[in-house]
Amino acid sequence: MYSEKIFKEFRHPKNIGEIKNPDGVGKVGNPVCGDVMHIYIKVGKNKKGEEIIKNVRFRTFGCIVAIANSSLLTKMVKGKSLKDAEKITKKDLIKGLGKMPPIKYHCSILALDALRKAIQDYKNKKGKAVK
Ligand code: FES
Repeated sequence: MYSEKIFKEFRHPKNIGEIKNPDGVGKVGNPVCGDVMHIYIKVGKNKKGEEIIKNVRFRTFGCIVAIANSSLLTKMVKGKSLKDAEKITKKDLIKGLGKMPPIKYHCSILALDALRKAIQDYKNKKGKAVK
């Protein structure tokens, strides 16, 4: 029913919690089940001067897939440039998690939607143009 990867991420999730004074916050609700996902980011710069996700954490009232997915996504984007983080697709995430019941696909993209909102929130605060 669920891949071993999903169970592994769910049993030992990384990056749970909030960030004090985050640079961006993304909050989304799952329209199918009503669960909620919050992603917090702290932005820094790498040696090339690119903006990167220095820290990222999540809080969710979602299910096993939502938790596993948030853990996976936060690990994937930590240290990545904002540009590269924005390129991650829903397909990448679903593929990365492995087997799950199709009814759970909506849970697996919740964190990505929240991350995109957090990045947008950061850009809005910085007065950057919305793409
Ligand atoms: S059932 Fe609500 S996030 Fe999965």
